[in-house]
Amino acid sequence: MKNNPLPRLDTCCDLRSHLLPHCRLQVGEIWHDPEGKHRVGCLDATDAAVVAALVGDSSATLAIQDPPYNLVAFERRAIEDYLDWSRRWVRATYDILAENASFYVWLGADQNDGFQPLADFMVLMRDEPFSPRSFITMRNQRGYGTQKNWMAVRQELLYYIKGDPHFNVDAEYTDIPKILRGYYKDVNGVITENLERGKAATIRAGNVWVDIQQVFYRMEENVSGCYAQKPLKSVERIIRASSNEDDVIVDFFAHSGSTLLAAEILGRRCVTADVDPLFCEITIRRLERYRRTGKRGWQNSHPFEKEIPELPTPNGTGAPMQPPRDLSQATLFG
Ligand SMILES: C[S@@+](CC[C@H](N)C(=O)[O-])C[C@H]1O[C@@H](n2cnc3c(N)ncnc32)[C@H](O)[C@@H]1O
Repeated sequence: MKNNPLPRLDTCCDLRSHLLPHCRLQVGEIWHDPEGKHRVGCLDATDAAVVAALVGDSSATLAIQDPPYNLVAFERRAIEDYLDWSRRWVRATYDILAENASFYVWLGADQNDGFQPLADFMVLMRDEPFSPRSFITMRNQRGYGTQKNWMAVRQELLYYIKGDPHFNVDAEYTDIPKILRGYYKDVNGVITENLERGKAATIRAGNVWVDIQQVFYRMEENVSGCYAQKPLKSVERIIRASSNEDDVIVDFFAHSGSTLLAAEILGRRCVTADVDPLFCEITIRRLERYRRTGKRGWQNSHPFEKEIPELPTPNGTGAPMQPPRDLSQATLFG
């Protein structure tokens, strides 16, 4: 068994210059899936013209966007600049979506800084043509900042719509068994309680998700080198509820390619992008590896194993490098 984790690839300059020549895409280029299902573009999500060119005449019914959160872990800007930037990618997304479509956005709230950018983004969205539908919270298992505060374990997900898209109400049941009796109701003159009336033995997913494991290095779906990977289960939940087979889904902040892979697994088509050629390459390799082996990530290995079979050990000690902490969470909750 190997334990060969990559450090965070967006900031590790030496490694970046070593790996960039192995990336198939440069900024402005598009990878076309040889099986004809998906597309990956290396582009800036705020550039409406290149986004439109990438999507072409595909009619996308679902967008799942996970932009950098304007927190210490990412490039941090003044909130006004962050909002201008957000407005640009929100509009670029709106323009390419079908008349009836769903729009999901993952975003963080910095509790040490006025809960930006989540609060500001929600206000910004009031002036955009999307309508708000739900405010979902996903519970992480590990938290931060617990000494003088509540342990911070939440991940926020906003759900908006354009027009009147379908919502597959029965698509998503959790693994959580129904145990609470009660909620009596008269059905055709017979008093029944909810366990008798229910169609399933488990509860439906509401807008608080407590049953999804945060990705960490021991999981099969882990993609070493990525610092902000969303669990496939969360993406699959969104896709099942808000799309049908063969629908086109977009995600312009691909990173580890979770949306692309979930789309492949669930028989949807995905048009995805990232501004960083390294993450575009990882996204493509993750799909190729899944098709070749059925594996969803690189547990105990990493996407560039061919190019760098052994990573240098810290200070030449021979000790393996520590797996990177989930920095998006660490700094999100400070
Ligand atoms: C929070 S991560 C997305 C995580 C992803 N949902 C996953 O599960 O792996 C944000 C990604 O957005 C990319 N990014 C940042 N600015 C961008 C831009 N202007 N256009 C496109 N991608 C951008 C970053 O390179 C990073 O990979």
